[in-house]
Amino acid sequence: MITATELREKYFEFFKEKGHALIPSASLIPENDPTVLFTTAGMHPLVPYLMGEKHPEGTRLVDVQKCVRTGDIDDVGDNTHLTFFEMLGNWSLGDYFKKESIAWSWEFLTDKKWLGIDPNRLFVTVYEGDEEVAKDEESIKIWQECFKKADIEAVVCDNGATPPNPPLARGGTRIFPLGKEDNWWGPAGKTGPCGPDTEIFYDVAKDACSDACKPGCSCGKYVEIWNNVFMEFNKKDDGTYEPLSQKNVDTGMGVERTVTILNGSDCVFEMDTLKPIQEKVRELSNMQNEQSERVITDHIRSAVMIISDGAVPSNLDQGYVVRKLIRRAIRHGRLIGIKDMFCAKIAEKVIEIMGSQYPDVQNKKDSIIQELNQEEEKFTKTLERGLKQFKDLVSKEGMSDQVISGKDAFDLFQSFGFPLEMTKELAKEQNLSVDDKEFYEEFNKHQELSRTATEGRFKGGLADNSEMTTKYHTATHLLHAALRKVLGEHVQQKGSNITAERLRFDFSHGEKMTEEEIRQVEDFVNNAIAADLSVSCEEMSVSEAKAQGAMGLFESKYGDKVKLYSIGDISKEICGGPHVERTGDMGHFKITKEQASSAGVRRIKAVLE
Ligand code: ALA
Repeated sequence: MITATELREKYFEFFKEKGHALIPSASLIPENDPTVLFTTAGMHPLVPYLMGEKHPEGTRLVDVQKCVRTGDIDDVGDNTHLTFFEMLGNWSLGDYFKKESIAWSWEFLTDKKWLGIDPNRLFVTVYEGDEEVAKDEESIKIWQECFKKADIEAVVCDNGATPPNPPLARGGTRIFPLGKEDNWWGPAGKTGPCGPDTEIFYDVAKDACSDACKPGCSCGKYVEIWNNVFMEFNKKDDGTYEPLSQKNVDTGMGVERTVTILNGSDCVFEMDTLKPIQEKVRELSNMQNEQSERVITDHIRSAVMIISDGAVPSNLDQGYVVRKLIRRAIRHGRLIGIKDMFCAKIAEKVIEIMGSQYPDVQNKKDSIIQELNQEEEKFTKTLERGLKQFKDLVSKEGMSDQVISGKDAFDLFQSFGFPLEMTKELAKEQNLSVDDKEFYEEFNKHQELSRTATEGRFKGGLADNSEMTTKYHTATHLLHAALRKVLGEHVQQKGSNITAERLRFDFSHGEKMTEEEIRQVEDFVNNAIAADLSVSCEEMSVSEAKAQGAMGLFESKYGDKVKLYSIGDISKEICGGPHVERTGDMGHFKITKEQASSAGVRRIKAVLE
């Protein structure tokens, strides 16, 4: 049996031997990406570096990234779906490319010193090409050389032949060219770094579902374990591709999936980071129900990880997702006979398991438990009444069309705190559906959270690395400096979020800012802009940066070497960038909102006009 820890450690060791620097996981909550609620892949936090920014740790990086994807939340409960997962990645930032990337993946997977997978179990897909970007012949050749080392003559599948010749995925057919929908990674409909990829599949050795079964088929015979993306393009606003200034490699290996198949299992809940959590759920319940146990296991794990990165249950953005996860878990808890408060008990197990890799989870244990308890208390009060309301609703006349109206679903949300997904799940159990569109219309009418409600933001995408967000990034540093000047040195950054339209900045400060203070802060920033200060960047160790009095998040966030951005002599901050070169043409800075964020923390929203 292999554990998640063993897989991570092996992966890190292997890539360190190949000259990679180990960098810590970034937060699950993207700092400067307006288009996604959560980090959904290892590449998200590295976008600036894929676009050409210099990374302080060099051009070869390795990491394990915490990821959340909630698009398939309704499928959680089966053998494979999870909302939180860990993604291993190795990165070339304009350094090595296809040859090394593929050869190293092969070595790591097959060499006895590392994972020692039988090469006969491995199959790959490559990009088949179209009028925009040619077929990836180079990767095909490299793969054939790899397979040859194991005496396997890797035949490339001729997809056009009917009947498939040679039969798909039998004998020597190992390499499968597929189109953009399968073998291209990058922004869907948005701008950003992207490119063709090659995906590596493990044959779990069960019967093929048909003669046409091949990697990419969803029957479960071929499980994708690694995706190597050759990011050499930038997708532009007009949908065309331009070569990036550097050729990058972005790879992703799902920890849960890989550990599961290496252990010969077909269910992620059997592995070491999930099983003990499910066992705890079972211990607290009085009836065995695999599906509900898994939903609780997954959802509480995700909620803990998200809360540890700073979101708390609310009706907005990430907070709404946390709320939804906890509330669904609670309902499933009741379904399997757990009567008392239980989320914190499950969370303790999660913290014990995940804390070893992600220290923040351990460090924030008390506040995580407190948030869960508060949410559970709050929701428990309305759950019973809400369920009764739901029952009345479905038994009333007019349900013959099998659809619960968006208005009714919204009422369940508004009055009883039922997240839409929970109502949908309840409806499904009765063979009914819910009018989501109408729900969101109601929701947008009543809530501030219109952005969250648009499905797009749940599904994710990539940052638009536009000029505006760069300006807001620099404006954030100026604001931080201004707040410390006007309010005092106790001000510290507690959170930051940037879109192309505004910046949002959370900081420690005990009371509401006066109008005079707000004006002083605006003046400070606008004077800095008017002075057309130059912005410079230097790389140094954390201790050197601290010695220079730099601001910034010193915790486990960056590796040993950091980038210190200085704006004239008014701001020195550790940060990944990007920033404007001079402050001159940033526009006029205006604070549009100053409000409480949480105890002792204020939130500012500001625009550049
Ligand atoms: N970015 C690639 C993925 O997430 C590696 O699959």
